[in-house]
Amino acid sequence: MTCLVTGGAGYIGSHIVASLQAHGYAAVVVDDLSSGVITRIPGISLLEADISDEASIDAMTQFMRENQVTAVIHTAALKSVPESVADPLSYYRVNIGGTVNLIESMKRAGVTNFVFSSTAAVYGMAKGEVTEDSPTMPINPYGETKLASEDLLRALNEVGQVRAASLRYFNVAGTATDALADNFATNLIPQVLRRIVDGQSPKVFGTDYETKDGSCERDYIHVADLADAHILALTAIEKAGSQWAFDVFNVGTGTAYSVIEVVERAIAASGASVELEVDARRPGDPARIVANPAKIRSVLGWRHSHDLDDMVNSAWSGMKALNA
Ligand SMILES: NC(=O)c1ccc[n+]([C@@H]2O[C@H](COP(=O)([O-])OP(=O)(O)OC[C@H]3O[C@@H](n4cnc5c(N)ncnc54)[C@H](O)[C@@H]3O)[C@@H](O)[C@H]2O)c1
Repeated sequence: MTCLVTGGAGYIGSHIVASLQAHGYAAVVVDDLSSGVITRIPGISLLEADISDEASIDAMTQFMRENQVTAVIHTAALKSVPESVADPLSYYRVNIGGTVNLIESMKRAGVTNFVFSSTAAVYGMAKGEVTEDSPTMPINPYGETKLASEDLLRALNEVGQVRAASLRYFNVAGTATDALADNFATNLIPQVLRRIVDGQSPKVFGTDYETKDGSCERDYIHVADLADAHILALTAIEKAGSQWAFDVFNVGTGTAYSVIEVVERAIAASGASVELEVDARRPGDPARIVANPAKIRSVLGWRHSHDLDDMVNSAWSGMKALNA
């Protein structure tokens, strides 16, 4: 069986490609290489195309037919919250328009099975423990485009046009190998490590929250564990066949780590002699957000196998390699 991974040259997509191969699937990739890195997917067949461009529909249809694609894992997207606020049109064009084009080409190529990269950002300002039944109220265009894509997939699933599952990722971190490391310092762990590499003190924004040490608490998930969740979702869809009903799953560990814990472990991993720096709270940061992963555990049988040290240590190794 061959799975098409859109955004397969990206940080998460390339881990999914590796996980697919480890589970006996063949993988092919569509990516415009806007943030993806081709060396992450050696030997993998690549269609270099912008999914938001209507001209890509024919190219993707043909690529799926040629490679006898049986399923799609859709990770290609723009993912920066502040950028989405500054440039909503690009986010709607790529994240929704791109998804529409992709599904149109799947329809033409006769492919129905679909796993979607969603995000905890669909929950907006959720606080505390988040289940899949928590209200979805995104507070920025990025989260809105992911939620709208889920709505589209639900509607298409209801009429049998796709069989889709959406995975709502919490804070993704770490790397399986140095070559697949995250090259963008947008998430906390790479941001902290970047500051350490640059000889600056990592910052903690607010230490007066009602949490165990006063800093914000979040749920971190190792990218290799996250990648495996896609394979489980895909095999569940394949097993259910036409009986599959659209479903959403949180992907997090259910454990909250504080920003201070993360920063201290990052400093320890690096061996650098820097101190953390405390800054004022940032507006809009909820004190604690943690996934309730009960559903993905019971329905898909998913378990995480990496802890925070694995995430921080592998991310540090990857960052050193990137800067070597
Ligand atoms: N990294 C996180 O913490 C996180 C958290 C929640 C959800 N997500 C979602 O996971 C997915 C992957 O994120 P990532 O961290 O690997 O990001 P990434 O930027 O490393 O990967 C995205 C990939 O998509 C490709 N791409 C972007 N626009 C494209 C387009 N128009 N046409 C074709 N290819 C395009 C990029 O070149 C890149 O290879 C995204 O959908 C993102 O919203 C990520």
